[in-house]
Amino acid sequence: MRIGVLTSGGDCPGLNAVIRSVVHRAVADHGDEVIGFHDGWRGLLEADYRKLDLDAVSGILARGGTVLGSSRVQPAHLVDGVERARGHLAELGLDAVIPIGGEGTLKAARLLSDAGLPVVGVPKTIDNDIAGTDVTFGFDTAVGVATEALDRLKTTAESHQRVLIVEVMGRHTGWIALHSGMAAGAHAIVVPERPFDIDELTALVGKRFQAGKKFAIVVVAEGAKPRAGSMEFDAGGKDVYGHERFAGVARQLSVELERRLGKEARPVILGHVQRGGTPTPYDRVLATRFGWHAVEAVHRREFGRITALRGTEIALIPIAEAVDSLKTVPPHRYAEAETVL
Ligand code: F6P
Repeated sequence: MRIGVLTSGGDCPGLNAVIRSVVHRAVADHGDEVIGFHDGWRGLLEADYRKLDLDAVSGILARGGTVLGSSRVQPAHLVDGVERARGHLAELGLDAVIPIGGEGTLKAARLLSDAGLPVVGVPKTIDNDIAGTDVTFGFDTAVGVATEALDRLKTTAESHQRVLIVEVMGRHTGWIALHSGMAAGAHAIVVPERPFDIDELTALVGKRFQAGKKFAIVVVAEGAKPRAGSMEFDAGGKDVYGHERFAGVARQLSVELERRLGKEARPVILGHVQRGGTPTPYDRVLATRFGWHAVEAVHRREFGRITALRGTEIALIPIAEAVDSLKTVPPHRYAEAETVL
């Protein structure tokens, strides 16, 4: 068989592990040919690609980012996007394409699949918000980076008797905030799923100082917003892709908490460091399993599906299951964390 692979959307630790696994399973085990499109869907739409053999993927397992490059270009951005993709698949003699990406990429995969193109997707995002899979690779690495940062920030917060408001990634969901906050023993966790009340948050942090503690760490997901009418808030608007723009919630919270508590407060924005660098062993293993199962699905001609972790096993689920809704933090998970704040 001839298989195309691409990585699209924001990068994520573990992308290279998937590419490597696809090539190993397809080339070494099945005798297939694999080509890698450059910069996500752009490569497919412009037939910009290179051949991927075993040498091409040697040494990339532990490397962050993606050796194929990525972009936010989508077939839907072009009037003839789907037809161009169809044409290039035919010209290149491809039996299937494996797009590795998040919500936007999988929506594009669904569009192509609905148009009859042979697609098997692999979900990725550090945000862990893709429905249908228990976990996405990249999440464990991001939580590790954020937890290490929080551990380090505790000592400086304590030295200066400050409130540090640490902003982690999570445009729509608070998985990184929840897990890193629990792992590092944060004193408040603020997630988009639960708009915050500034009076309640001030009281929670204030209680800690009243109990004689000298510092506090608040973890906030970048997409968190106050409850309507709770405080003045600049939501940031949208960027050119229609994504919610960085609102600077940590900065806004630090100003408000400093004023209300009379304690020095500083915002700390972790940003893209959470997406960079080497994936954890957990993410490498999950990514490798996803790649292996994507190739198997191609060989079974089980198209229009994505790989998903269900419990401890890998399943192939319809793309629609992954793109119709987001996997948000459920209230009971927040309640578990709240007890130990
Ligand atoms: O989807 C992953 C994510 O890391 C979000 O949490 C974040 O808002 C976004 O990507 C930022 O992406 P970029 O700045 O690369 O567009």
